[in-house]
Amino acid sequence: MHVVIFGLGYVGFTAACCLASEGHKVTGIDVSSKKVASIREGRAPIIEPGVTEMLQEGLKNRLISADTEIGSHLDDAELAIICVGTPSGPDGSHNMSYIAEVSQQIAAAIDSDRKTPLAVAYRSTIRPGSIEELIAPIFRARLGEDTDRLVELVYNPEFLREGSAVADYFAPPKIVIGTKTGQPNAAMEKLNANIEAPTFHVGYREAEFTKFVDNTWHAVKVAYANEIGRVCLALGIQATQVHEIFKSDTKLNLSAYYTRPGGAFGGSCLPKDVRALQYISGDCGAGTPLVDSLLRSNEAHKHRLFEYAAEGLAPGDKILLAGLAFKAGTDDLRESPNVDLARKLLGAGFELEIFDPSIEAEHLTGANLGYAFSQLPSIEAILVDKAQAEATPYARVIASNATVEALELPADMDIRDLGTLP
Ligand SMILES: NC(=O)c1ccc[n+]([C@@H]2O[C@H](COP(=O)([O-])OP(=O)(O)OC[C@H]3O[C@@H](n4cnc5c(N)ncnc54)[C@H](O)[C@@H]3O)[C@@H](O)[C@H]2O)c1
Repeated sequence: MHVVIFGLGYVGFTAACCLASEGHKVTGIDVSSKKVASIREGRAPIIEPGVTEMLQEGLKNRLISADTEIGSHLDDAELAIICVGTPSGPDGSHNMSYIAEVSQQIAAAIDSDRKTPLAVAYRSTIRPGSIEELIAPIFRARLGEDTDRLVELVYNPEFLREGSAVADYFAPPKIVIGTKTGQPNAAMEKLNANIEAPTFHVGYREAEFTKFVDNTWHAVKVAYANEIGRVCLALGIQATQVHEIFKSDTKLNLSAYYTRPGGAFGGSCLPKDVRALQYISGDCGAGTPLVDSLLRSNEAHKHRLFEYAAEGLAPGDKILLAGLAFKAGTDDLRESPNVDLARKLLGAGFELEIFDPSIEAEHLTGANLGYAFSQLPSIEAILVDKAQAEATPYARVIASNATVEALELPADMDIRDLGTLP
C-alpha cells in the first residue's frame, strides 16, 4: 500500500521506516527541507536505535522517499498518516496550528476524481473533539458534499516510547482506532495486519482521549512513587524494599482493580489511612501534594455523583438508594460515601428510602452506630425491606453498590448505576 506520512519527527520518521520494512511504499512529507535532505541522503533526522539501517534499506529498495511539498503524492495513496507536532501553547492547551495547516494542505491536494476515499489517520496527540470540531470542518469547507466520498478521517493514537520506538511500533501495548461510526477502517486494518495487540474500535473522542488518560496516569504513578520515596527518605525506611513489596501485589496494587470510573472511595480504611499519611508526610516535611489532594478529589466526586443521581428528578420525588454501606455485604457504615449521598438527597428534598439487607439500624454498635446516626439521624425510618423496595413505584432507583442485584425490579424502572459511569 502507498502511505504518505506528514511530519517526519520521532513518530512519523519511525513509522516511515517501520512501514517500509514491511514492504509498504512510503512518502514522507515535512516542511523542514533539512530533514527531507537528510532522509534522501540516508541520514536519519532523529537518534533512535535501528532507524538508520531501516532507512538505508528502504532507500535501496526504493520504498522510502521524502519531499517538502505534497504535490501529487496523494493521488495513488490509500492512506495518509499525520504525525506533526502538537506542542504546548501558552495556556497549556495543545497548539493545533500544525494540525490545522496540514489538514488544509491535504484537503487542497486531494484529487476530486479519486475512485476510493483516502483514509487520513491522525496520530498526533490532540484533545477530544479535535476531529469533529476542527479537522472535519476543514475538510468539509474545502470538499463540501464530496467529503465522505473522498476522505475517511481516523484517529489512531501512537504509543511508542523514544529509545525503543521501533520495537514499540511492532509490539504496541494496544491499537486504538477511532472512526466516525466506531467501525474498523479498511486501510488501518491493512496497516496493522502484522501487528498483534488488543485492538479497540471506538468513536473519535474515546480514541482522542486515550493518550491523555495514559500519559497522565504514568505521571500520577511517577509522582506517587516519588512522594512515597520522600517519606521513606525522611523516616529512614528502605524505599527499594517498600517498592519490592508494593509491586509484588499484582492482585490489588498493579492491576485493573480500582481503575473503573464510578463510586467514590470510602469505608473504614482508605480515607482514614490517607489522612494519616498526609499527617505523617507533613510532620516529617516530605511534602506530598498528590496524596494531600486525594480526599478533596474524592469529595468533588461525591458531589458530582449526587448531582448525577438526582439528574432530571424534582424535589419530592420518591427514590430508592440500593446500598448504604461502602460495599455490598457489609454493615460497616464508617465513611461510606453512600451515607453522604443519602444525606445530600434528603437535604435536597427527595423522599428517600434505603434498601440494604446488611444494615439493621437496631443492630448498629460502637463507631458504626455513632457515624450512622450522626450523619443520618432518620436512618431507622427510611430503611425498607426487599418486599417494600420491589413493590414501591420509585421515580428512580440509585444503585450505589452491588446491593441492587438482590432486588427484582420492574423492567421499566429507572435505575441509575453509580458504580460504573456510562
Ligand atoms: N515523541 C513521542 O515519543 C511521541 C509518542 C506518541 C505520540 N506523540 C505525539 O505525536 C506527535 C508528533 O510528535 P513528534 O515527537 O514526532 O514531533 P516532532 O516535533 O519530532 O515532529 C513533528 C514534525 O512535523 C513537521 N511538520 C510541522 N508542520 C508540518 C506540515 N504542515 N507538513 C509536514 N510536516 C510538518 C515538523 O517539521 C516536524 O519535523 C505529537 O502530537 C506528539 O505528542 C509523540
